[in-house]
Amino acid sequence: MLRSTIAGIGMYVPKNVVTNNDLKKYMDTSDEWITERTGIKERRFADRTGETTTTMGVEVSKIAIERAGLTPKDIDFIVFATLSPDYYFPGCGVLLQRAMQMENIGALDVRNQCSGFVYALSVADQFIKTGMYKNILVVGAEKHSFGLDFSTRGRNVSVIFGDGAGAVVLQPADSSSDSGILSTHLHSDGANAEILAMYNPGTHANHWAKDHKLADFNDGEIGDMFMSHEMIDHAQNFPNMDGPSVFKVAVEKFPEVIMEALNKNGYQSSDLSLLIPHQANLRISQFVQRKLGLRDDQVYNNIQKYGNTTAASIPIALCEAWQEGKIKDGDLVCLAAFGSGFTWASALIKW
Ligand code: ACO
Repeated sequence: MLRSTIAGIGMYVPKNVVTNNDLKKYMDTSDEWITERTGIKERRFADRTGETTTTMGVEVSKIAIERAGLTPKDIDFIVFATLSPDYYFPGCGVLLQRAMQMENIGALDVRNQCSGFVYALSVADQFIKTGMYKNILVVGAEKHSFGLDFSTRGRNVSVIFGDGAGAVVLQPADSSSDSGILSTHLHSDGANAEILAMYNPGTHANHWAKDHKLADFNDGEIGDMFMSHEMIDHAQNFPNMDGPSVFKVAVEKFPEVIMEALNKNGYQSSDLSLLIPHQANLRISQFVQRKLGLRDDQVYNNIQKYGNTTAASIPIALCEAWQEGKIKDGDLVCLAAFGSGFTWASALIKW
């Protein structure tokens, strides 16, 4: 069967480094608290006016396309994963197509938060396998710094996230080689969707807020808005997270979906050359490493430098590991993600 392979890869992080101590200017927090609970020491924040999720996506796309030996005109489909798009609609895929003056190709946005890149990669993989497209650009990019509550009220969430982007070009693999994406595995469980969510702007009409006896911002009249001054006053325009609940499910689902990919292809965890987990939290990655009995050199982490960049975290980590010579031809690489939804996913790759 036709298999897809990564022909080019790129990453970008903004120049502006924001340390844990820098955040103390805005909220009551400390380097000790953040380091102990998340492993994060610093993150990058995009230029306030010059950079958007799409412009960072363009940066990484140029690198990935050039490394694949292609030009933007060769790309025949775009899949763009982000939870922090330039606009509520249209998505970043079309903005990328416009910025890179690509042909009038299809552009699909994927909204699966921390699992977004692996979901996007899986979608692209299916299009390559069916022979529909030959050079697919898969992008994960986030500009979180524009959408977080940097007051003490929002500190449990805002200290975790950073900005950045990563991209790969997916192509059909050479039929004589055994390299490429071996399998992808996608899952969801919406039972606790609100545990890690941003409710507004949205069309939920406060059903969830009413059920949970929270403030009722709309009275059901025509003219009610999915975003209002009241919602902003109550910080309803920022992400909410029940951190301990997320931790509990993440440490269960990460190992499960990694083992699913390994078992499907007849491998064990000891066969893994490198695990690239979504950079959610260093403590989660360390827990997963222990549970699977992996050595330090089998797991790649860079959350210490970049924070959690959601849909961008896996392609950034994959690209950085590759640039550092930690991924070589023939290596068995597993990408694994867990996040809001909940959704979780993995991809096993023979490099
Ligand atoms: N600085 C200082 N104190 C803080 C901060 C902060 N940034 N944030 C919260 N606190 C305080 C709280 O107010 C609370 O104080 P109190 O005891 O006086 O009420 C105390 O610290 C403990 O708060 P918790 O929210 O219970 O903190 P916890 O120890 O659970 O750590 C954390 C929070 C790091 C989010 C943890 O729950 C966790 O690791 N959860 C996993 C979720 C995660 O990693 N999400 C990443 C994004 S989602 C994803 O990518 C899958």
